[in-house]
Amino acid sequence: MDKRKLIVLVLVLIAVVIQFFGPARTNPPIDDSKTIMADLQVPVEVMQILERSCFDCHSYATKWPWYSYIAPVSWLVVNDVNEGRRHLNFSAWTDYETKKKVKALDELCEEVEEGGMPLKPYLWMHSDARLSEQDVQTLCDWTKSAIATLRGTTPTNDEDEDEHEKDEYDY
Ligand code: HEC
Repeated sequence: MDKRKLIVLVLVLIAVVIQFFGPARTNPPIDDSKTIMADLQVPVEVMQILERSCFDCHSYATKWPWYSYIAPVSWLVVNDVNEGRRHLNFSAWTDYETKKKVKALDELCEEVEEGGMPLKPYLWMHSDARLSEQDVQTLCDWTKSAIATLRGTTPTNDEDEDEHEKDEYDY
């Protein structure tokens, strides 16, 4: 066998062998009582944007694309999804304390306004996930009212501190 054929054979073998390694794609079962919908009013138009552009990485309802089955690309995709879920998971929303929910919603609006989310590499493969200015507006209007709702029902420590500061100014 000449050297070139040997090199190709070795590369093919490596490509085959790496398919058996790397992190697993997961879709843990979704408990409806733990989702963001169970906790907050989520209008249909907001839900549609979240499902279209965010759920693949921020929920357990991930739709795994074909390239997520092929190493080494799969390693990057699975890693993004695991990281995304770790930072913000709409399917495990009720695990968060009120303070963390408020922070997450605040960051949600900030990320989409700055164009930080959805992640750029995701948009190369999912052009329909791109957010219009209207989408960003819809999301931020919703996060603001959701934060107000959360604060109204369960005041956060932050707010208590604000109250004290105000008191000091008043007197
Ligand atoms: C391709 C996967 C992917 C998609 C799609 C995606 N995200 Fe993320 N998101 C991540 C990852 C990974 C992180 C954590 C690392 C980082 O902040 O870049 C993250 C972090 C975040 C954070 C937390 C930022 C922080 O400072 O902790 C928010 C909020 C967020 N994403 C919102 C969204 C929203 C809203 C959408 C949809 C419009 C979205 N993401 C779509 C992968 C994704």
